[in-house]
Amino acid sequence: MGTYALTGGATGIGAAIKTQLREAGHQVIVVDLAEGDICADLSEPSGRQKAIDGIHALAANGLDGFIPCAGLGPSVRPFSLITKVNYFAAVAITEGVRDLLVRRKGSVVMISSNSAAMVGHDEYVDLLLDDRETEACELSDSKDGHTAYAGSKHALSCWLRRNAPDYARQGVRLNAVAPGIIDTPLSNKVLADKELGQVMKDFGDSVPLGAIGKPEQIADVVCFMLSGKASFMAGSIVFVDGGHDAMLRPDQF
Ligand SMILES: NC(=O)c1ccc[n+]([C@@H]2O[C@H](COP(=O)([O-])OP(=O)(O)OC[C@H]3O[C@@H](n4cnc5c(N)ncnc54)[C@H](O)[C@@H]3O)[C@@H](O)[C@H]2O)c1
Repeated sequence: MGTYALTGGATGIGAAIKTQLREAGHQVIVVDLAEGDICADLSEPSGRQKAIDGIHALAANGLDGFIPCAGLGPSVRPFSLITKVNYFAAVAITEGVRDLLVRRKGSVVMISSNSAAMVGHDEYVDLLLDDRETEACELSDSKDGHTAYAGSKHALSCWLRRNAPDYARQGVRLNAVAPGIIDTPLSNKVLADKELGQVMKDFGDSVPLGAIGKPEQIADVVCFMLSGKASFMAGSIVFVDGGHDAMLRPDQF
């Protein structure tokens, strides 16, 4: 059976991925703030390094897969926390465990969002992709939560597309899911937010398939993308959003 590492496995989508992988008999190393095999605050570079070192210690023979799932929603303050966890931690830890993935020709599934397609490739996205964390954090703090969140996922998707060919040449498949609104603690905090709650509720009510998603529905697709059944899939970003992206951007794919 395989060895997988996962950030953000304590709740929501990450917990569902952890459960499905463990039910399939795999070893899953969980990194999270307080509940996990490795407890680390991924908003800080020291926490990211603790995660990388801890995964190396627990998976010395290599990784079959890595899922950087830890993330913060648009209701979080300060907004720079979104920038730090959703983009910089996901990229730093993926790069930090690359050697372990190469060893087993493993696979990475990143967790983007259908909101990534709702913002353009702007100055904020460029700062993220240029690895300028301090400036990107300052800029995100001067914006709003939706812009910081969607921009972090836009940049993560661009990072994946830019790097997937190079990883693939080493036998490592980089892919992402782009979930729509999913019933988790993250989305429930947004629904409870004074500024964002009504917009989020209206968004949830307009899902073409008629309901918001469940974490297990994202985990199903993530586990497929990690598996040998997806062995020719690399550089793909798969929308799992009940038809929302198709409704909003019918001519773009
Ligand atoms: N729920 C949605 O509607 C939705 C939609 C699209 C994308 N996503 C993405 O899915 C991923 C999982 O989110 P979720 O909805 O399951 O939320 P969640 O809040 O249930 O889970 C997020 C996890 O990340 C962990 N985490 C947060 N900050 C951290 C930090 N500084 N260090 C270490 N761990 C930290 C939390 O402890 C938690 O276990 C996120 O990347 C999110 O952006 C969620």
